[in-house]
This record gives sequence, C-alpha cells and structure tokens, in this order.
Amino acid sequence: MARLRVRPAARPLSGSVPVPSDKSIGHRALIFAALSAGDSLIRGFSYGEDNVATLSAFRAMGVAARDDGQGVLHVRGVGLAGLRAPAESLDCGNSGTTMRLMSGVLAAQPFASRLHGDASLSRRPMGRVVHPLRQRGAVIWGVPKGDDVTAPLELGPLPEGTRLAPLEYTLPVPSAQVKSALLLSGLFASGPTVVVEPLVTRDHTERMMNALGMPIQTLGPMVSLHPPADPMAIRPFELELPGDLSAAAFPLVAAAVVDGSLVTTRRTGLNPTRAGILDVLRGFGVEFGAVPQGDALGEPFGEVSVRASALSAAHVGGELAARSIDEIPIAAVLAARARGVSQFSDVRELRVKESDRIAAIVRLLGAFGVAAEEREDGFAVEGRPQGPLSAAEVSSGGDHRIAMAAAVLALVADGESRIDDVDCIATSFPRFAGTLRALGAEVEVET
Ligand code: S3P
Repeated sequence: MARLRVRPAARPLSGSVPVPSDKSIGHRALIFAALSAGDSLIRGFSYGEDNVATLSAFRAMGVAARDDGQGVLHVRGVGLAGLRAPAESLDCGNSGTTMRLMSGVLAAQPFASRLHGDASLSRRPMGRVVHPLRQRGAVIWGVPKGDDVTAPLELGPLPEGTRLAPLEYTLPVPSAQVKSALLLSGLFASGPTVVVEPLVTRDHTERMMNALGMPIQTLGPMVSLHPPADPMAIRPFELELPGDLSAAAFPLVAAAVVDGSLVTTRRTGLNPTRAGILDVLRGFGVEFGAVPQGDALGEPFGEVSVRASALSAAHVGGELAARSIDEIPIAAVLAARARGVSQFSDVRELRVKESDRIAAIVRLLGAFGVAAEEREDGFAVEGRPQGPLSAAEVSSGGDHRIAMAAAVLALVADGESRIDDVDCIATSFPRFAGTLRALGAEVEVET
C-alpha cells in the first residue's frame, strides 16, 4: 500500500495547474457515447479508476473503445438496442456512480447481468436505486441489509417483448446518481419518466441528454423524459471533458491555507449545481475568482484562482451542504484554519459515501490537533488559525477524499506527516501528488 510523506510548505504555493477531468461528466459521456448511434470522441479522459470501471463495463458488453493512452477515446456506439450480455460480473470497483448509473441501463436489457464492487462499495446503500427500478417493472436483486439492499446486484433479463413501465417518482434522498439511473432507464421505457427531487442535485445527465437531442425537460425540482422512439436516437458527439471542480478543490484550498499562495486551476467545471464549493469558499472568507471560458455539451468551465486568505468560521448546511457534499472533507480543512467554530449540518449522507466521512473527518482533524465534535448529521470544528497544526501519522481508510484532505492539512503542520493507504487517490485524482509538487509542495509517494 502506497503512502504519502508531506513536509510543511516552506514557501507559498504558486502556479496554474490542470486538474483531472470531471468524474461525474466522464461517466455520463461514456454512457451516452456507448448508447449513441455512431462514433464519438471523448478528449481529456482522466484514467481515474472510477471512470475506467464504467468504460470496462461497456467494453464487456461489446462496445468498442480505442484509447490512445493520452486521454483520447474513440467510442463506437451501439445504439439503445445494441448492448450484448456480459460474459462475467461487471466490476464497479469503488465507484458508486458506475454501479447506480449502470443499474438504470442494465435493468432495461433483455439479458441478465451482475454488478459487484470493492469492500467499501459493497457496504453502500443500493435500495435507493433498486426500489424505484422495481417499481417500473425491473428485475433487480441485491443482498438484503436491514431495510436496505447492498451489492452485488443481479439484474434482468426483462421478459421477452416487454419494456420498463413509465414512472413518476419522488426521491426520498436527494441523489443525482439515483435521478440519473431512473432517467437512463427511462430511455428504454414504454412511457415517460418523471423524477422529483427534494433538493436540486447535480444536473449533468439532464444537460447532456438535452445537448444530445433527447426530449428532456426540467421544471424546478421536476425532471421529465420521454423515451425516444428510435433506438438510434442518441447522436454521437465530440467532447473535451471539463476539469473536475471537486478535484480542483484540493489544490485551491491548499492555496487558501498556505501563507502567500496563489493557485489557479485550468478548464475547471463551473456547473452551478456542482459549484457549491465556491459559495463555501466565500463563506470562509477565501479570496477567489472564477472566470468562465466556455462550455462543452452544456457544461460551463473556466479558470478558478485562490489566494491565501485570513479565514473566519462558517456554517455549511441545508441546500449548500447538498451542493458541496463531495467537497465537505476539504472544506473541513478551511474550518481547521478559520477563526472561530464552524458548523457542518445536514450532511448525514456523508456517512454512506466511500467511508463514513463524518467519523473520518473528525478523526483526521483530531490527529492534526484540531478539536472537532461529531454530530449525527454533521460536525463542528474549532479552528486553529494561529501557528502550525501538529504533524500526524494517519491512514486514509481507503477513502480518496480523506487521503487528499490529510495531505493539505499536512502542508500547515509543524513537521513531516505520513498518510498511509493512499492508492485510493487514483480513483479520482491520479496525479494529485505531482500536482501539489508542481505548485511547490514537498510531497513524496512511497510504495
Ligand atoms: C455523483 C453524485 C453524488 C456524488 C458522487 C457523484 C454523480 O452522489 O457524491 O460523488 O456523478 O451523480 P449522490 O448524488 O448519489 O449523493
């Protein structure tokens, strides 16, 4: 298992860096390319393990994808009726998005399939996607766990000559993964799909469907989709993936906490349903700028710059917490360096991410000498804005975002820190250590 050794920053972090392409948009691009009616070109593929899991699943179902090893993928779409039965169980690795989104596609197929994942993914709740899919006639089974269901999931086949039924469904938990699974299953259904969400979650699926000419409409918290009549309805496309703001958040927060720093991330996704972290930065008093530069298949992107700032405590809760749910581990680092007590609430969902992130964040902050208190649906942090934090030896617990948050804390500690179990960083940010080094940090990977 690899580990990181991180020295306290001896000088300001500075520079303009690329970030891996957006993981959420990457999954969707692969899915729509595979289901489209011809050859699509995806540029800027990140090789993050989560996205690779989605790519491998489609390859196992007969979708040809040529990869030049430099992030350019040529995908030969097979249309909505062209997937072939996979010979083996499909491995989703650590990727909840792969498992939940693929459930929507596979539940509609005339063949049987199986989805499995690693130990962390096998603990995560799948009932939220299994139950509504069953409601529209899907054959889908998991492993019962209390009121819920976990992986592995067994899907299909749909009885010959049948299709999934129309669906009107209100999500009990705000989840873009579940919303997307239902919309994807809706492409194969016999009538409309209407999904209502309690809070607006990331809308990458809707934007891409719209850009590719599918009949999708959004009205506030309600999304509706009519199934296309023609299985070759999805047009092939060319897309240069925008960078991942969730990944960019790590070097950007590093700049906010290391004195004198100024860091820019290039071509970074700025979709407003994803950009909650910018409001979080503002709340903590971080000086930043976001300059829009264009859009790719309906996804805006631009440059984001952060300057080292005097931070003050903030409250992250409600709708803002939902819009920055993946960034809470790194937002906790801002809280660790802010003046005053910060509160994070309405983030119960963090307990069922790649790890129990509420417990993991509180443990991590404690290891660096920052007082934090765990609550059922969040946590509180008493900032230590003055002087360095205490250097620590910690383990990521196999969670990529906890590993990267630990590395950023280590930049403001009083000696070298060691972070164990960091292979997981490759799920979302394969070049993380190199990116911090490019900005002037002293980070070593030990294998
Ligand atoms: C994702 C949605 C979010 C997020 C995950 C990626 C997506 O999960 O945490 O990292 O790509 O749809 P939920 O919407 O299921 O909470």
